[in-house]
Amino acid sequence: MATFFVGADHGGVQLKEFLVEALADRGHEVQDLGPFATDSVDYPDFAIKVATKVAQTEGSKGLLVCGTGIGMSMTANKIRGIRAALVTDPFMAAMAVEHNDANVLCLGERVIGIGLASSILDAFLGASFGGDRHARRIGKMMGAEGL
Ligand code: RB5
Repeated sequence: MATFFVGADHGGVQLKEFLVEALADRGHEVQDLGPFATDSVDYPDFAIKVATKVAQTEGSKGLLVCGTGIGMSMTANKIRGIRAALVTDPFMAAMAVEHNDANVLCLGERVIGIGLASSILDAFLGASFGGDRHARRIGKMMGAEGL
């Protein structure tokens, strides 16, 4: 079981609430970094909070939700050590882990419903990194940080 740092903006806070419970139900430790209301906030503030925690905490994962997941994934990927994947179906969720060793899952509340989000979460949790040729590629990817 992993520790999950979770965050959202006003466009993703309701799906975040659902997923916080889903993660806890599945036995994961969840640290919800907010927000806790639907007032307008800026998604980079929460993406940076979550991504920084994931980068600093060995073995942890992140979950970020905004309206589309786009702003969250773009921002989280600016933090060294982060591989944030914007995912819209369970196949992408599994591949994001198996091939890309994703450590942050990004979702769009205005794009997917709770049923699909739940299936995506299960696929993400159930996958493991394939290593081998994928590890070589991740090495090249991470070597591009700061270029
Ligand atoms: C907020 O309106 C919206 O821009 C945000 O939730 C997200 O979709 C950005 O990528």
